[in-house]
Amino acid sequence: MDWHSIHQHVEGIPYILPELARDIYDFILKYKPRQCLELGFGHGASSCYIAAALEEVGHGHLTTVDLLPAKEWQDPAIEDLLDRTGLQPWVTVVREPTSYNWFLKRQIAAQTRDNSCRPVYDFCFLDGAKNWTIDSTAFFLMDKLLKPEGWILFDDLQWTYASKLKEGKKKTDGISMHAMGPDELEQPHIELIFQLLVMPHPDYANFHIKDNWWAWAQKTRQGAKELTITLSPSYKARLAAWETRTGQRHRAPFEAFPD
Ligand SMILES: C[S@@+](CC[C@H](N)C(=O)[O-])C[C@H]1O[C@@H](n2cnc3c(N)ncnc32)[C@H](O)[C@@H]1O
Repeated sequence: MDWHSIHQHVEGIPYILPELARDIYDFILKYKPRQCLELGFGHGASSCYIAAALEEVGHGHLTTVDLLPAKEWQDPAIEDLLDRTGLQPWVTVVREPTSYNWFLKRQIAAQTRDNSCRPVYDFCFLDGAKNWTIDSTAFFLMDKLLKPEGWILFDDLQWTYASKLKEGKKKTDGISMHAMGPDELEQPHIELIFQLLVMPHPDYANFHIKDNWWAWAQKTRQGAKELTITLSPSYKARLAAWETRTGQRHRAPFEAFPD
């Protein structure tokens, strides 16, 4: 399905940014991954973009995982969107009682023979808990299932629990903020995972952060251990407007936190 058609179908359905959706769509057209994994589908908007790109390429499959209890609020449900778009054949939907990490455990168990795990995925997209404890584990588990030369994508790079507290929330995705210390609330967990676990990892290279919000890395020993940071013109304009309005300066990725 072409970009225009899928965008018309799912535009306005939370949560994916259109710029990120376009980036993933173009990535799939370029790299033609056979097996894709998404952790955290929400209403399934991002899953539909991925499936549409796979259909456009003519091969590939997406396995996407979310929480079973989240089904309660997921209206529209991913199945509705896949029905509406006719993209069901491209996607397997999995709902886990407690976490995608248990799904990953099952996959690793199925793929492990003679003390070696056979990787299956060409592309893994992490867009779930945004929590250090859950997603640092998810990274190492995904790594076991990601093929050499495959790509991994992290959404919500600068998301913080503090931003949810400001909205009056006390819990997100079943996790209570009640007992968190100031650093756990204020530091962006996904950025910490990218900076402290992914970038120093000997098997990862070709790092790219876009619009301060999503980050790519390739599982390769051949690539450059370098980070590219790009800001799109539309993001730069939004950022400048926000800085003027609030009188604050946006923190750059990896900028040190005050002690
Ligand atoms: C922001 S939404 C995903 C949005 C979707 N990828 C998109 O862009 O349209 C995050 C999702 O992650 C799910 N999630 C959070 N923690 C999870 C966990 N530990 N295991 C599985 N799913 C989780 C939530 O239920 C929620 O639906």
